[in-house]
Amino acid sequence: MNLSELNKVALAMVTPGKGILAADESSGTIKKRFDAIKVDSTEETRRDYREMLFRSTEAMSKYISAVILYDETIWQNAKDGTPLIKLIEQAGAVPGIKVDEGTQGLPACPGELVTVGLDKLAERLKKYYERGARFAKWRAVIDIAGRDIPSATAIHVNAHALARYAALCQAAQIVPIVEPEVLMDGDHDINRCYDVTERVLNEVFRELRLQRVELEGMVLKPNMAVSGKKCPKQASVEEVAEKTVRLLKACVPAAVPGIAFLSGGQSDEEATAHLNAMNRLGHLPWPLTFSYGRALQAAPQKAWSGRPENVPAGQRAFTHRAHMNALASKGEWATELEKKAA
Ligand code: 13P
Repeated sequence: MNLSELNKVALAMVTPGKGILAADESSGTIKKRFDAIKVDSTEETRRDYREMLFRSTEAMSKYISAVILYDETIWQNAKDGTPLIKLIEQAGAVPGIKVDEGTQGLPACPGELVTVGLDKLAERLKKYYERGARFAKWRAVIDIAGRDIPSATAIHVNAHALARYAALCQAAQIVPIVEPEVLMDGDHDINRCYDVTERVLNEVFRELRLQRVELEGMVLKPNMAVSGKKCPKQASVEEVAEKTVRLLKACVPAAVPGIAFLSGGQSDEEATAHLNAMNRLGHLPWPLTFSYGRALQAAPQKAWSGRPENVPAGQRAFTHRAHMNALASKGEWATELEKKAA
């Protein structure tokens, strides 16, 4: 393993003023997104949609540091025959690949999940590296429900799998994005989210150390500390920022090159405002940026709606969201800037 090369890629992924586009929706997830805009999900529509994003020259070259792809996309060509991965490289962004294979129920822990995909992962990583991927992503999902979920078992097995994946990535000269996502679906308050995320991050870093993962050669992709969606008392932007930064400072070693948040179901503007407020706090040991899926793509999906004539509108919407989040990654975003939307 060449650690200084891994570190260079990781730092490029968290360049201040840029962030990561998570365009790695599985076929099932992208179908749900397309259903919402009444577009059939076919190999061709998925290709056309992602080609629209990757050909958004301004967004891709100025605001996007890296793109996470799904297996289908990394092998696909644009309409003119150019591999989609080349469009990303030409824009100066780093291409990466989602390598987990989704979740399965944990038999001894009803209602809880473990992420799978370690079998044959070393071989898959080798093929992805040859195709041009320089980083990978694995998402663990931790639910909060009542007093007993998450169990210590679910936290442990997911952290263990994340570290197994991360070690395999580094051995294949690929930077692992380590993504332990604590879901915001419940009615819990922000303090419960804080406590659970703290347990999860502590366990993840314990496993990463045990399995000898080099922290300088990874990127962390966590959730923020937020109130559950159904919680009657929603925390303010300032409280989310203050608690998330406090939590990360307590759990994440400064050796980690950077942190790129998931949006996890926050609205577009919330995701931007939270990131901005955190960066305004200053005195952070790592760059804090975005690795958003929904919060970057909901607007372009709607503007595009599957029609070729809407491609420029879709690209404008994507560029706007990428720009707003890029400003937030430097703490330079303000509500008034939102009004200049496409
Ligand atoms: P969201 O920003 O929509 O949560 O997606 C990010 C991601 O990559 C989840 O794995």
